[in-house]
Amino acid sequence: MTIIIRHAEPSDYEAVRQVFAGPQVVWGTLQLPFPAAESWRKRLAEPAEGVFSLVACAESEVIGQLGLHTFPNRPRRRHVGQIGMAVRDDWQGRGAGTALLQAAIDLAEQWLNLSRLELEVYTDNEPAIRLYKKFGFRIEGTLVHFAFRDGQYEDAYLMARLRMPR
Ligand SMILES: CC(C)(COP(=O)(O)OP(=O)(O)OC[C@H]1O[C@@H](n2cnc3c(N)ncnc32)[C@H](O)[C@@H]1OP(=O)(O)O)[C@@H](O)C(=O)NCCC(=O)NCCS
Repeated sequence: MTIIIRHAEPSDYEAVRQVFAGPQVVWGTLQLPFPAAESWRKRLAEPAEGVFSLVACAESEVIGQLGLHTFPNRPRRRHVGQIGMAVRDDWQGRGAGTALLQAAIDLAEQWLNLSRLELEVYTDNEPAIRLYKKFGFRIEGTLVHFAFRDGQYEDAYLMARLRMPR
């Protein structure tokens, strides 16, 4: 199955809402269950400045989303991008995450001249940690009680990929 990556369009909002409605995706991200279509419509139609939103498509159906947040108005953080991503529950483990992250790294490093990409990932989210390590992200520290998830606080790793490692 060929996976195509393209920029998200406002009309993708219902498909993106479905991605974020999956229990595995809620578990792995900071999203709440029962995402509202309106909040995704607004996010995609009126993105905050410096946000690049990519989607993964299989046979023209949107099955994953990645947000790359940059800091155009913060001079000393202009080299940084923050990544958040999710693949629809029934499509996980089939290469969409790899395709999305590869595209985001290419956009960030080859076109936006970002040299540090960072993200947060729950310490028990093994598939995501393996994906990020595959692309050269390293664990920089542990954020204790980072977020409340399904009744309890969970720790997260701060991970980063440096284009020019120190
Ligand atoms: C994490 C996530 C984005 C990865 O996307 P994906 O499409 O499932 O990933 P891929 O199929 O491209 O696999 C990428 C790598 O992840 C790892 N991986 C994928 N599924 C795995 C599994 N079930 N168990 C362990 N590792 C797994 C593998 O290392 C794989 O690389 P490889 O096949 O070359 O060995 C996706 O699983 C997801 O959306 N999970 C829920 C939301 C989430 O956790 N988002 C990340 C927030 S930080």
